[in-house]
Amino acid sequence: MKKLFIYYSLSGNGDVVADYLKNKEYDIRKVNMKDKMPKSYILQILKGGFLAGINYKAKLSNFDNNIDSYDEIIIGSPIWNGRIVPAINTVLDNITLDKKKVSFILCCGSGKAPKAEKMLRDKFGDINIIILKEPKRNKKELERVL
Ligand SMILES: Cc1cc2nc3c(=O)[nH]c(=O)nc-3n(C[C@H](O)[C@H](O)[C@H](O)COP(=O)(O)O)c2cc1C
Repeated sequence: MKKLFIYYSLSGNGDVVADYLKNKEYDIRKVNMKDKMPKSYILQILKGGFLAGINYKAKLSNFDNNIDSYDEIIIGSPIWNGRIVPAINTVLDNITLDKKKVSFILCCGSGKAPKAEKMLRDKFGDINIIILKEPKRNKKELERVL
């Protein structure tokens, strides 16, 4: 069974999850936005929070949407302004997840993401959604992944 982790990460928490899943035989595809995020955290909050709030679909610089050979897909997103991020909005718009085993890993500061969970359940039904609180700092969180 072939397994793939597709994710976006701005500050490295998603990368820690990717390293963990790589050791569990997942192929990894990290997506990047064409339009770069600012370096300053305050400006990140303003820009990222606004774009996530309007469910913006960011242009991606490197997304391969061919997932035909995979049986299981995990999608990883940070939480911005309670929601999944603009890069992952684009991913979800451009892949067909029918007939795949789908789950989500959401990284956030609070450990809670009710808005994002609701949006994903409305779209994908009763899927597995794992919410991790800053796994880069709290490595123990990774034990909840698989
Ligand atoms: C623009 C922005 C908005 C954020 N909004 C939230 C939020 O609404 N709730 C929350 O718990 N964490 C929020 N965070 C924190 C991130 O979700 C958290 O640090 C996450 O682990 C980042 O993942 P990454 O390191 O893979 O980018 C926000 C961070 C940024 C940069």
